[in-house]
Amino acid sequence: MKKKRGRSSVIDIDKILNIKKKTKIIKVKKGKKSSKKETKKKKFSVVKRHLRRIGKKEGMSSVKTNYTEKTTKTSGKISSGLANFDKLVEGGFEKNSANVVVGASGSGKTIFATHFLVDGMKKGEPALYITFEEKKEQFYKNMKQFGWDLEEYEKKKLFSFLEYTPGKVKTMLEEGGGAIETTILRQHTSRIVIDSITSFALLFDNELEKREAALTLFNMISSWNCTSVLTLEEDPMISKEFTTAKTIEFESDSITLLYYLLQKGERKRYLEVLKMRGVKHSRKVYEFEITPSGIKVLSKNLKKIEGL
Ligand SMILES: Nc1ncnc2c1ncn2[C@@H]1O[C@H](COP(=O)(O)OP(=O)(O)OP(=O)(O)O)[C@@H](O)[C@H]1O
Ligand SMILES: [Mg+2]
Repeated sequence: MKKKRGRSSVIDIDKILNIKKKTKIIKVKKGKKSSKKETKKKKFSVVKRHLRRIGKKEGMSSVKTNYTEKTTKTSGKISSGLANFDKLVEGGFEKNSANVVVGASGSGKTIFATHFLVDGMKKGEPALYITFEEKKEQFYKNMKQFGWDLEEYEKKKLFSFLEYTPGKVKTMLEEGGGAIETTILRQHTSRIVIDSITSFALLFDNELEKREAALTLFNMISSWNCTSVLTLEEDPMISKEFTTAKTIEFESDSITLLYYLLQKGERKRYLEVLKMRGVKHSRKVYEFEITPSGIKVLSKNLKKIEGL
């Protein structure tokens, strides 16, 4: 007999995600016991078996497909902290949304993303910065120029810096858990940055796999009750048919493009909100500056920019 698909499977998966979360909380609370690893393994295999069972019951081909169902977003706004940016997007990022910032090297992605985290930490919201590329010492030093003392935030348990390989993120998506989830649950993280997802996206051979992985990652972050900014290194001026940005674009909740253009012998910075789900965002291109206190969008929008 054919089983009904759709809504019921979503509910089941939500339940499982909650079970998974709970098991992880128990694990963290238990602390330093030597059998922790074993316990974690057992609990994960229980969750995975359960997922597989539901997958079979619902006539689904794989657990992975099931897990990529869109999770429910909690409504509300999270300020970006960037001067004048929130005005362009009806007050900020959507709560628990995944926001991609695309730009070429040196366009300001890391500063944009860190500014977002610092804004949260100033309000007491713990932040997690995951990177494949930045070196901690140099990164802290660079950010101090904007008055952002990440070492101090770290001491106050508001900031976590995590160096992670793209491969580890892939494993996390397939098996759940890992250092990222442990940190999030322990620190009660509410804002996450992954800087960048470029090398992670390169792990996947084709567009479909890339898209599926992006959706799984975004949903995982959302299920942790976190709002995220994910940077992607790609020049928005070079429009190819199948760029990583274009693939990931479909699954993210918002896309902001950072331009770094040479005009009359001088490089100027511009940004544009390309999409933000459920938001009547500005469709104009704005100049922005990197000031001693971070990113500042210049309120005068630019109607005609050479090359755009
Ligand atoms: N204190 C500062 N004041 C003004 N501009 C700065 C300051 N520090 C860095 N910049 C500018 O910001 C650029 C770096 O910004 P950022 O690190 O955010 O770029 P990115 O897009 O992350 O680059 P990458 O792709 O290489 O990681 C520098 O190249 C420089 O032009
Ligand atoms: Mg960077």
